[in-house]
Amino acid sequence: MSGARDLAYLCRELKHPSLLAGVGRLAERARADAWSHEDFLAACLEREVSARQSHGGEARVRAARFPARKALEDFDFEHQHSVRKDIVAHLGALDFIEAKSNAVFLGPPGTGKTHLSIALGIRACLAGHRVAFATAAQWVDRLGAAHDAGRLQDELRRLGRVPLVIIDEVGYIPFQGEAANLFFQLVSSRYERASVIMSSNKAFSRWGEVFGDDTVAAAMIDRLVHHAEVINLKGDSYRLKGRDLGKVPGDGDT
Ligand SMILES: Nc1ncnc2c1ncn2[C@@H]1O[C@H](COP(=O)(O)OP(=O)(O)OP(=O)(O)O)[C@@H](O)[C@H]1O
Ligand SMILES: [Mg+2]
Repeated sequence: MSGARDLAYLCRELKHPSLLAGVGRLAERARADAWSHEDFLAACLEREVSARQSHGGEARVRAARFPARKALEDFDFEHQHSVRKDIVAHLGALDFIEAKSNAVFLGPPGTGKTHLSIALGIRACLAGHRVAFATAAQWVDRLGAAHDAGRLQDELRRLGRVPLVIIDEVGYIPFQGEAANLFFQLVSSRYERASVIMSSNKAFSRWGEVFGDDTVAAAMIDRLVHHAEVINLKGDSYRLKGRDLGKVPGDGDT
């Protein structure tokens, strides 16, 4: 067998570039440790599978359209002590996606709602789940366009196949009639079928104002929190950390 050249050609033909990069070292280990032929083949294939999975992860991260890149490891729980690290770590294990349950982050500006949503979303992507991220206003625009084109149900069905939908910034821009209705349909179409992460600067008691309708808001909250981790973030904005804006930096919680 004319070894290396054949391998290079075959790996290129099969589009297995990472296998080609690793096969030399795997072969050395196979000889040193007297692997069986089957063990060697399995090690080669495993290498290619894990390379493909991590490539798929990056593709899913891009497709999710996160506004920034954030990681749970970079979240400072010392600064944000209203959040329990173990609860966030539990969410980070992603069982909630398998369980088709939700996470809701509530709190004032700059307290880490978007950071945690993105970090969980990226984890989900890397673990093999498809994710779609947008602000509440963007979701409403998208669903409104689908509605106007007469394909709202198709769009909701399509989104239903995405295991995690992230809805950021609920509450900054109030919804008018039809928008609240579209938003309700998004939440209700996912209830017990697929996960949602939602963030809001408004407490649930004020969602009636956001949606211009107490009944719609109540029905939405009901579906959202039936199976959900609801996390209340408190304190000052991390964006203003260390800035002297009338407070002594580092003088603790409010
Ligand atoms: N506890 C924290 N540790 C590390 N970085 C943090 C923490 N909290 C917030 N940040 C950072 O501060 C910035 C603001 O946080 P983030 O965007 O998550 O706030 P938010 O709660 O979504 O606010 P808003 O309601 O204004 O959208 C981001 O760059 C984020 O990464
Ligand atoms: Mg935010």
